[in-house]
Amino acid sequence: MFTQLYLDLPPFLSASGHVSLPGSKSISNRVLLLAALSEGQTWVHDLLDSDDTQVMLDALTQLGCDLQRKGSSVGITGIGGVLNNPSEMTLFLGNAGTAMRPLCAALSLLGANVTLTGVARMYERPIKDLVEALQQIGAKIDYLKDEGFPPLKLQPSKIDIQSAIEVRGDVSSQFLTALLLALPLVSHEADIQIKVVGELISKPYIEITLNLLAQFGVHVTRDEWRTFTIPKGSKYTSPQEIHVESDASSASYFIAAGALSKGHGTLRISGLGEHSIQGDIRFIEAARLMGAQITTGPNYLDIHASPKPLNGIDLDCNHIPDAAMTLVMMALFAKGETVLRNIGSWRVKETDRISAMVNECKKLGAQVQEGEDWIRIQPMSADQWRGASIHTYDDHRMAMCFSLAAFNPSGKTVRIEDPKCVAKTFPNYFETLFDLVQTPPDVIPVICIDGPTASGKGTLASEIAKTLGFHYLDSGALYRLSALVATDQGIELDMSNESQIVDLVSKLSLRFEGTLIFADGQEISQKIRSEEVGMNASKVSAMPRLRAALIDLQRSFRRLPGLVADGRDMASVIFPTSRLKIYLTADALTRAKRRHKQLISMGIPANIDSLYADLKARDERDMSRAVAPLKPATDALLLDNSDLSISQSVEWVLNKWQSKNDA
Ligand code: DC
Repeated sequence: MFTQLYLDLPPFLSASGHVSLPGSKSISNRVLLLAALSEGQTWVHDLLDSDDTQVMLDALTQLGCDLQRKGSSVGITGIGGVLNNPSEMTLFLGNAGTAMRPLCAALSLLGANVTLTGVARMYERPIKDLVEALQQIGAKIDYLKDEGFPPLKLQPSKIDIQSAIEVRGDVSSQFLTALLLALPLVSHEADIQIKVVGELISKPYIEITLNLLAQFGVHVTRDEWRTFTIPKGSKYTSPQEIHVESDASSASYFIAAGALSKGHGTLRISGLGEHSIQGDIRFIEAARLMGAQITTGPNYLDIHASPKPLNGIDLDCNHIPDAAMTLVMMALFAKGETVLRNIGSWRVKETDRISAMVNECKKLGAQVQEGEDWIRIQPMSADQWRGASIHTYDDHRMAMCFSLAAFNPSGKTVRIEDPKCVAKTFPNYFETLFDLVQTPPDVIPVICIDGPTASGKGTLASEIAKTLGFHYLDSGALYRLSALVATDQGIELDMSNESQIVDLVSKLSLRFEGTLIFADGQEISQKIRSEEVGMNASKVSAMPRLRAALIDLQRSFRRLPGLVADGRDMASVIFPTSRLKIYLTADALTRAKRRHKQLISMGIPANIDSLYADLKARDERDMSRAVAPLKPATDALLLDNSDLSISQSVEWVLNKWQSKNDA
């Protein structure tokens, strides 16, 4: 119902542990295209699973490639350089430059009749230099909207290569990559030369292209970075299996996290070594220049926390265009100013990254200046940091970079807007980061929601958790499952059997996966929802030693980035210092009707009158019992939702949450 509009990051102290990162985006999409252009099947292992690779896979399927999946591996049966499906079609390529540019080149040389579309931002990303290079040799490509930008219409035409093909190299290296990947398809008669006009930027990405071409049997020679020659008769040959390295640009956030870490731990990144074919691996040189303590092995990087602060640097970052954004964040924590130069390509990426970085750093309280192709960052003192809501411009790297602001020494919360935009290259980025970050538990926010049975607190609490990206603790489920396992064992639920029940529950192996609950490997999520189990739960929840035995388990749900805890003593006993406590109620008849509707929808027969009588009896017992009686915590806010929809109640709680945080 509600989508996650933002993610609030409480302050981080340190980061350590072990992480395996997803596959490189640049390698993944190049390999997919090469496999598609080869003959036979290629198994691509450790492929990145992200928006950009998904649009590429969808496009290849539409073009007639057969795909098979096994875990994180995809088997692609290529088209062997011949388009089997010549009918007119439209390929939607999202915001994936690594799909748009090479497919434009390859499909125009293969004589496709195809329209290439994408999201609005794709229509602002230049492609003119590539289109003009292809038009030189006879490709028929038309702009469907603005001159020089997608969407594009490609039509079959005669390709005639008489002389060297010229392409500009100073806007995006993806134009040259696209030509290098596509031209072997038409190299039957003669060598093909590509001449780069202007200074070639982002050379490391060209290195990746050349390296992968060689793995698919095409050996391009180059004269400096000016002329590239594709030998006559080049033909793609599948290596049959190929592994995708972990993404070096994604690694930069974890390298930075390890370097910004206070304390003594080590953060190990595996799946990537110092000899990676990805240019962004050279981020480690830049990080070391700033003082990061990094040791490396063939397939791992270790980042060691250091007591010394980082230092500012002045660096030409043309060779690490994507990862260099991470240096901006490190610079905020350094001693002395940092200047990053030769980063003009940032302006034509997912957003204008130079101005985006400047705007958002300023919100944090930083002093930052920009030029056409440079950025200057002054370090921040602890008292300069402000809590801020960071706009992410539908740019995954903005979201990932600014998560590092949570290491700020002033304990300020950092809000990341539209956190799901990380899906472009790293869908589980935040979960992965939270697994590595250490934070004192008392700074992890908790919202407690209590109320009588059938007040709708479960639905409200889980919706709030989803909207804030928080974990969810349904503490009632713990009493329900205790009652279920005890009765399954034939144990009477009275006080004389308390020790036996505590013993039984303490030995259970419990696992919580989203809304699913497993006890000793058995999925019991539905079983504990019956009225009978609810009644029995009310009995066992009056046992003080069982309540005590469940305290640590409940507190262990307090994990980054926060928790919504639903149940009786959440606000008073389990999380007494929680920032927001809500007591949700509705009149008994409204609750009986809701419960009736819920049971009927689950296919369970129910009668309103008896539900009403049961509810009142249960309220009575819950309110009058000695242990954890049903009553609002002294500092709880009351919400009567008898006349409110779920979304109105969610809205109400979110507003209260916001004002607590603003206070
Ligand atoms: O919310 P629910 O209906 O799933 O809860 C089942 C029973 O457990 C109910 O009688 C209230 C009780 N309970 C409790 O005593 N303490 C909690 N923290 C949660 C539920």
